[in-house]
Amino acid sequence: MSAQTIVEAKDFAIPIVGLGTWALRGRDCARLVEQAIRIGYRHIDTAQMYDNEREVGEGVRASGKRNEVMVTTKVQPSLLAPHDLERSVKESLAKLRIDHIDLLLIHWPNPRVPLAETLGAMAKMKQAGFVRQLGVSNFTVALLDEAKKVSPEPLVCDQIECHPFLDQHKVIAACRAQGMAVVAYSPIARGNVRGNEVLERIGKVHKKSAAQVCLRFLVQQGIVVIPRTSKIERLEENFALFDFALSDAEMAEIGKLSGRNDRIVDFSWSPNWD
Ligand SMILES: NC(=O)c1ccc[n+]([C@@H]2O[C@H](COP(=O)([O-])OP(=O)(O)OC[C@H]3O[C@@H](n4cnc5c(N)ncnc54)[C@H](OP(=O)(O)O)[C@@H]3O)[C@@H](O)[C@H]2O)c1
Repeated sequence: MSAQTIVEAKDFAIPIVGLGTWALRGRDCARLVEQAIRIGYRHIDTAQMYDNEREVGEGVRASGKRNEVMVTTKVQPSLLAPHDLERSVKESLAKLRIDHIDLLLIHWPNPRVPLAETLGAMAKMKQAGFVRQLGVSNFTVALLDEAKKVSPEPLVCDQIECHPFLDQHKVIAACRAQGMAVVAYSPIARGNVRGNEVLERIGKVHKKSAAQVCLRFLVQQGIVVIPRTSKIERLEENFALFDFALSDAEMAEIGKLSGRNDRIVDFSWSPNWD
């Protein structure tokens, strides 16, 4: 396993470490994206809701490596009706100023719009060449099952909240059963991994930070991670995950932290969460 490791999902290659960009704005956002790509990141995650597609695209283009980088964006839940979706994807492309979106996700399920209609419109965007691959985010086990039945095109990932403090084994198993990648958002629990006794202690053994141990715990399971930072120096830290490995005992000890079941992103509104 190396920084260039990819997770194969339905013949689509997803770089195992990406950069999250939620809350990054303006020139700082463009600069961080460009610098991340210079360091070696080949996967950048944005969304219509982050209001930074313009700056993300600027950073990608400034890196001079657009063709090597996978850019993900997400359609916001209020725009999942086919006509809105098609218009908004074209808007995303215009803001990003790139010729296609590598991976397009449904950001959140919206029970008011039939899933088959949304996935049908996404398939149309793919067939027209606006988008390379399709996926979902914040989908439950039940929604993954429904999506499989009604999607005209393969779905390559479910992007979900995933870190050592949250038990996601059911949805991870459902993704694996469908040959989909799991993309972990908030993979360092918004920075809360710092100071955790278990992660800090294991980090000392390997001369790594708690954040690095946490990210390694995920990538060692084949889970894609998209940590966000606003600090250039942490871009390197969050990418330096491949010069050490966790033992089975260390993996098991970190695995026990999920008993806390600390969810950061509120799912209480969703009737289908499993
Ligand atoms: N699909 C969805 O619904 C969804 C939801 C949430 C997030 N996401 C995506 O996932 C990405 C990552 O999730 P996130 O932004 O929620 O949280 P995260 O990546 O788990 O954590 C980001 C926080 O951790 C801090 N941090 C970064 N590197 C660190 C390190 N090495 N040591 C200690 N602290 C560190 C950052 O502070 P500094 O800036 O000070 O470094 C920031 O406050 C988002 O940016 C977004 O792209 C998707």
